[in-house]
Amino acid sequence: MGGSPSGAALLIETLGISKQYPGVLALDCVDFTLRPGEVHVLFGENGAGKSTLISILAGVQRPTAGAVLFRGKPIVIESVHQARSLGISAVFQEFSLVPQMSVEDNLFLGAEILRGGVLDKRAIRVRAREIIARLGFPLRPEARVGQLTRAEQQMVEIAKAFRSDLSVLILDEPTASLTDRETEQLFALIDQIKAEGVGIIYITHRMQEIRRIGDRITVLRDGRYVATLDAKTAEDDELVRLMTGRVISELFPKIRFAPGEERLRIEHLTTPKRTVADVSLSVSAGEIVGLAGLVGSGKSEVMRAAFGIDPIVSGRVILKGEDVTAKSTHHLLARGLFYIPPDRREEGLVMMRSCRENIALPSLDQPPFSRGFFLDRAGEARKTAELADRMNLQPRRIERAVDFFSGGNQQKVLLARCLTRPVDVFIFDEPTVGVDVGTRAAIYAFIRDLCEAGAAVVLVSSDLPEILHLTRRVYVFYRGRVQAELEGDAINEANLLRHFFEREAA
Ligand SMILES: Nc1ncnc2c1ncn2[C@@H]1O[C@H](COP(=O)(O)OP(=O)(O)OP(=O)(O)O)[C@@H](O)[C@H]1O
Ligand SMILES: [Mg+2]
Repeated sequence: MGGSPSGAALLIETLGISKQYPGVLALDCVDFTLRPGEVHVLFGENGAGKSTLISILAGVQRPTAGAVLFRGKPIVIESVHQARSLGISAVFQEFSLVPQMSVEDNLFLGAEILRGGVLDKRAIRVRAREIIARLGFPLRPEARVGQLTRAEQQMVEIAKAFRSDLSVLILDEPTASLTDRETEQLFALIDQIKAEGVGIIYITHRMQEIRRIGDRITVLRDGRYVATLDAKTAEDDELVRLMTGRVISELFPKIRFAPGEERLRIEHLTTPKRTVADVSLSVSAGEIVGLAGLVGSGKSEVMRAAFGIDPIVSGRVILKGEDVTAKSTHHLLARGLFYIPPDRREEGLVMMRSCRENIALPSLDQPPFSRGFFLDRAGEARKTAELADRMNLQPRRIERAVDFFSGGNQQKVLLARCLTRPVDVFIFDEPTVGVDVGTRAAIYAFIRDLCEAGAAVVLVSSDLPEILHLTRRVYVFYRGRVQAELEGDAINEANLLRHFFEREAA
């Protein structure tokens, strides 16, 4: 016992770990340690190498050089299976669930409980119930995974890690799609397993989370080790400087609003299950309007319905004076309404296709991507390269499949699409989820530029600072309805939060 972190007391130690992908040195001689009972945060810009490091520890990737010690002994982690048998489990940014299968079958996929050589369905159900109960997640073991929300799927992924004895739990941005309540539940769980001596490696871009649960922070930059700090005493400014190598003077830009003509109006919109109920709102050229509220409050749903993704029961959508209610997304796009979805994998990007193809996708019907009936390959290549520059895509390889880029860089590809055609109204749904501070500042500046050039912008966001700093007016949603419309000085944290939870007037 004793507090001193001697070599033998460490759960994991990496010595000079490197990972070379074709053309990219993702990790360059990184040292890292994990003690029992600590939360060790990995911090760094998009593409810094965080996911690569943990995928080596979880047996998904092999290092090109360096050694890993587990409980003081050198080991070679050959597979996810082997990592699991050592008690090392990872929950990745992208899920590995089979949508056609039930929660319980997913939990024991690859670790099936057998009796006399056949699946012991009963034992699986009992164990699944035990695990879910322990975690306190609202999951039904027999539910089909494909029918769950993203947050629920995340819970299944986390539950999977608990099916056998754990000594190391690895979480890659686990709260990106969880609500505040689910996040608190996860943190309580982390506190509990810490007390049992489990070591946790935790990747996040959110400063508040580091404060809340972190013990130590290791900063990576361009695949290299930068520093390890005490999470309780490290200052935000210092972390950002270590991470980016520069000082970010202002995260939120000043925006000059010059509201002009009304561009988009939604009147009394209602959707089938009343996830949106009698919602009216409007946005004009040259302004940014925020939609705030909890996950599931209707803020995201109303824009999906307006953009023709989800059905509408009643109400109207007016775009530049034209009634476009229930028109196809294709029609809306052609009329100048652009929607940028929150889930880049599910709705946004075609992962196995190149950045070039993904950027050009919504605009293949017009110059410079095509001429008449013919695709203009040269025009497409020129324009997409220019946009990749503008978004500072890292690395700048537009022919590479989107799947091979880090999470934050995939987001840049999605945003680059906005600039491929003339657009009057932009709808951004959670544009900065999973994005590092530097890229975040760049995205905000990008949105400002669109607005100052005369576009109407709707910003759907669960990030309060984002709403507070970027919007001219805010609609606060609660249970499918607009609970309040705020403007000017009324847009402050206390006001917003009050309306987030307010009961509907009787
Ligand atoms: N399978 C792969 N093939 C080739 N290059 C890859 C692959 N996976 C990652 N890379 C590259 O390795 C580098 C590190 O990526 P990694 O995913 O580890 O970053 P990250 O720190 O997790 O970023 P983010 O915060 O955006 O998730 C990036 O330059 C990325 O493009
Ligand atoms: Mg990552």
